[in-house]
Amino acid sequence: MSTVFLNGEYMPLESARVPVLDRGFIFGDAVYEVIPVYNRRIFRLDDHLRRLQHSLDAIRLANPYTEARWRELIAPVIARAETDDQGIYLQITRGPAPRDQAIPAHCTPTVFIMAMPLTAPSPDTIAHGVSAITAVDDRWQHCDIKTTSLLANVLLRQRSADAGCTETILLRDGFLTEGTASNVFVVVDGQPVTPPKSHLILPGVTYDVVLEIGGQLGVPCLQRPVSEAELHGAEEIWLTSSTKEITAVVHLDGRSVGPGEPGPVYRTFQGAYQRYKEAVMRGPRT
Ligand code: PDD
Repeated sequence: MSTVFLNGEYMPLESARVPVLDRGFIFGDAVYEVIPVYNRRIFRLDDHLRRLQHSLDAIRLANPYTEARWRELIAPVIARAETDDQGIYLQITRGPAPRDQAIPAHCTPTVFIMAMPLTAPSPDTIAHGVSAITAVDDRWQHCDIKTTSLLANVLLRQRSADAGCTETILLRDGFLTEGTASNVFVVVDGQPVTPPKSHLILPGVTYDVVLEIGGQLGVPCLQRPVSEAELHGAEEIWLTSSTKEITAVVHLDGRSVGPGEPGPVYRTFQGAYQRYKEAVMRGPRT
């Protein structure tokens, strides 16, 4: 049974309880991170903690721990997890308080850390890609905050689930933003292109890894707006996230993307990503 951390204590998942007046439960007043762990080595923790700080600042919630303390608190959850590969899920809510939208002057945040099974892309997904649909991005204007208030994402993602697809790719005012739980890259004239970071997308850690890989491979990724027409005419489309890594979309809205199989630029980036991951797996434990 996996061990979780809740408010200063380690315990079995089944014993973890939060009060019903917790503002995370009542308002979704909370932020979170999902951090991959490969062979019990945590992947890009510094980047995830930096983004966590950005989310906390945006919702005016003080970070309860230093970076070093987060590292110490996460380590036993990784060590006691059942599998070597995991997804560390970390959530901070504003804590329990009488129900009122205004932020209480005094509130003790709820801090929760658990290890989830990591479902990295299967060999079949890497070889053959996945399908996606598009939808109008009707989320709010603060998509750079990694908040647990995810009802819009839930409803948008369900549309692709209903269609038997892996992701819903979102368009706002005729331009690509991101997926419901991933960033999106397209390949145009052999070059990867992705929307620039803004309040309309989550600044993905994997997005940054892909930009770095592009630099190393001498295939730089352009960060610029991508129109709906460019998305539909793209040679390749990729989803990137901590759990999807780099995943090729081979069907969009029922039509083939390029020849309907993962493309050559995807294969180059995917191979480089796997080599980077393997280096992390052999590296020091934190
Ligand atoms: N989601 N955009 C959105 C809306 C996301 O929810 C995510 C990640 C990403 C990719 O970010 P990263 O590369 O840092 O994982 C982009 C996580 C995996 C989730 O909610 O499960």
